[in-house]
Amino acid sequence: MNPILDLDFIDNRTPEQATAAPSCDTQVTKDNNTGRARKLYIESYGCAMNFSDSEIVSSIMFEQGFDTTSDIAQADLVFLNTCSIREKAEQTVRNRLGQINHYKKKKPAMMVGILGCMAERLKKSLLEEEKIVDLVVGPDAYRDLPNLISEVDGGQKAVNVLLSREETYADINPIRLNSNGVSAFISIMRGCDNMCSFCVVPFTRGRERSRDAHSIVREAQALVDQGYKEVTLLGQNVDSYKWASEDGTESVNFAQLLEMVALLSPDLRVRFSTSHPKDITDEVLYTMKKYDNICKYIHLPAQSGNSRVLELMNRTYDREWYINRVDAIRAILGEDCGISSDMIAGFCTETEEEHQDTLSLMDYVQYDYSYMFFYSERPGTLAARKLEDDIPLEVKKRRLDEIINKQRETSLARNKRDVGKMHKVLVENFSKKSKDQLSGRNDQNKVVIFDKKHYKKGDYVNVLVHDCSVGTLFGEAID
Ligand code: SAH
Ligand code: SF4
Ligand code: F3S
Repeated sequence: MNPILDLDFIDNRTPEQATAAPSCDTQVTKDNNTGRARKLYIESYGCAMNFSDSEIVSSIMFEQGFDTTSDIAQADLVFLNTCSIREKAEQTVRNRLGQINHYKKKKPAMMVGILGCMAERLKKSLLEEEKIVDLVVGPDAYRDLPNLISEVDGGQKAVNVLLSREETYADINPIRLNSNGVSAFISIMRGCDNMCSFCVVPFTRGRERSRDAHSIVREAQALVDQGYKEVTLLGQNVDSYKWASEDGTESVNFAQLLEMVALLSPDLRVRFSTSHPKDITDEVLYTMKKYDNICKYIHLPAQSGNSRVLELMNRTYDREWYINRVDAIRAILGEDCGISSDMIAGFCTETEEEHQDTLSLMDYVQYDYSYMFFYSERPGTLAARKLEDDIPLEVKKRRLDEIINKQRETSLARNKRDVGKMHKVLVENFSKKSKDQLSGRNDQNKVVIFDKKHYKKGDYVNVLVHDCSVGTLFGEAID
């Protein structure tokens, strides 16, 4: 899952791709006016998990008498659903609180709440540090929002940051906030049991738990019934999805879940994110091969190409293991399967030679694209406690630049392979540049732009690609 909106996040994709990918923008609530007494405005930062949670929160608040608004000035309640993944992500939220203060001055009754990972990490100290904040609610405590809101209505500040081992919000029907009506996210699990030494997620999201497979299938079916054409199954490590019925008679792993969702309709595209190199199985790859509607694209974050660094990161695989998984993808799904990665430059003690190993891994895999970051130490993580953040910032930035340049090369090379070929594109929107052009994605998650003709959002269109840039394919719809 990929966070955004912090300045050390470098994105090599076009704006179209950025909005299309599972996790790449700040999201704001859209207007939903059903005549309820009060209005909620939510801004979501970080990864797709947060965007999906905001839809659950909106649903809970709707029952509580709140419509949603896209205009913060109209809001009675403002929520920021926050991310802690890197220092910059938190700084962005703090800056935003400064701006929100101006609105609150004009409308003193406006309530301000911090949700999500920063709420969980900083807990009630957020109330002391940021005076404007009235409530602090962690990712497993959203069911308690009605009580917390009444506390604030009663003039108090409110906090609930309890993590849960069971909560999956399985029974809550999300209100689709920013959806184009074509693609939607479905959370299939929460939390993370891995302890990557750089990562704050296990602390902010708690233990891993998988959601009832039937509730996932019901949610996907409801989306099909509403005309949606694509679902993305979300988890920090989807390959470790494992659900068993209470009586123990039924058990579903990720490959089986994929199959259950794929079988709902051949017209429904199924995507998923994120795959963990240590857990992705050949069974998942064969299931992807078996169903045309499971998209041939895998986000398989490597983080580093060097085995010593991977060990320090506690990723529990080494370079050879990672390469073996990539070879399996290529052998089972072919050269065209899209593969993307996350990379961290300048992790503790990384040498120049070890950094070169990351670049050579990128050469080997030929990623279609990557999300690339320099290391940002997070308080409380294993790395913060045990390792020295000893790579100077200029060195981190230079290594990151080299990684980005390498990715631009491989993205372009991979896109050039697509030129001259026909691609099945699901239309998502107009192109950002022109209403005469449409934008959609192919099976491999690449953005394709073409002249509109008579096509519209939600259509599957065969597009002959005639040109490309680093981030986009350009083509012509063939009737
Ligand atoms: N569950 C996913 C990743 C979730 S976080 C996985 O295991 O791949 C998304 C990405 O943020 C990570 O893959 C990593 O590349 C980056 N990231 C996480 N912590 C970071 C840190 N402390 N500094 C820099 N980048 C970090
Ligand atoms: Fe963080 Fe590792 Fe879990 Fe991903 S798998 S969320 S990087 S701890
Ligand atoms: Fe996602 Fe950021 Fe939390 S990446 S899980 S919102 S720390």
